[in-house]
Amino acid sequence: MLRGFWYLAASARSLKPGKTLPVRLLDEDLLLGRRADGSVFAVSDACPHRGMPMRHGSFDGQTLRCCYHGWAFRSTDGCCTEIPSLAPDDRTDPAKFRLRTYPAQDVQGNLWVLVGTAGPGLDTKPGPVPTVPGFEGQAPQVTTTMRFPCSVDLAAWGFFDPGHPAFVHTSRWWKKNPASRLRLKEKGFEPEGMGFRMLRHHLKEGANPYRLLGRNVRIDIGIQLPGVRIEHIQGDRHSACVLAAATPLSATETDVHYCVYWTMPWLAPLRPVATWMARDFLNQDREVAARLMGNPALPAPLFVGDPDTQVRWYMRLKKEYLAAREEGRPFVNPLREQTLHWRS
Ligand code: FES
Ligand SMILES: [Fe+2]
Repeated sequence: MLRGFWYLAASARSLKPGKTLPVRLLDEDLLLGRRADGSVFAVSDACPHRGMPMRHGSFDGQTLRCCYHGWAFRSTDGCCTEIPSLAPDDRTDPAKFRLRTYPAQDVQGNLWVLVGTAGPGLDTKPGPVPTVPGFEGQAPQVTTTMRFPCSVDLAAWGFFDPGHPAFVHTSRWWKKNPASRLRLKEKGFEPEGMGFRMLRHHLKEGANPYRLLGRNVRIDIGIQLPGVRIEHIQGDRHSACVLAAATPLSATETDVHYCVYWTMPWLAPLRPVATWMARDFLNQDREVAARLMGNPALPAPLFVGDPDTQVRWYMRLKKEYLAAREEGRPFVNPLREQTLHWRS
């Protein structure tokens, strides 16, 4: 689990003004909140007094109050503003105590939290919240989250493992080639930021939901640490974007968030169907992860040939990130431009 990154914690619509939402991120329990003015915040879900989870307390749209002894905390900086049981002449300054705060942002319909800024050695400055190009200020048309019983690595590998769809994503509605009709693919890649990008390619002719976007459909796919995949599909009439983010709750539990943005307002009635399809698809990956984790004697994974190269790259990027933090130096992307071949 990599610290120092923005993590997609929840869908923005799951947090209404004046409400709080407990979440677990990287083994830390946090409380997200939305103030009366719509802005969001994140604090540690443990009162500094005796550790009572703040989720059991109250929130008036501005101030959090612990349910145990009633200490009050400002949502802006976590500072304690009141200890009700102190006598009027007690000189204890409540401001000495505070809830730990985390940077939080509401971006394109998702709540992102920056977990862990300090690390061993010099800190690597966190980048901006990942955004979906062309949909600034918009929320996804389809959004769903599924909890995977596995590490963030195993969950994220599914985003760029071209060897598995033909065997795992076998629903009839899914257009990919079945295992009996694999086709040779050639894709170019280049390093980008803390990740890599599949070079833009044009969709071949054939039946495909992407045809709704018009002719001349181009696809861009970017993968970034700590486990964010953004696919941008642009046709001559419309465009769509798919954001997938793997957020580790602990070493053995990961939330996979899946959001689809599109520019076709007339497709709105199809949202329930599209959500069902997204969940069906994600559930196939979740079941694979559950079966794998059911093996008590899991061997070290093998990464074989071009089909496993993207997974190997992801692990190299993680290793470089950890080494850079450890050594207090800037991250240097270790990848090179490369063309990969596989059958899928
Ligand atoms: S534990 Fe929170 S006020 Fe005492
Ligand atoms: Fe998959």
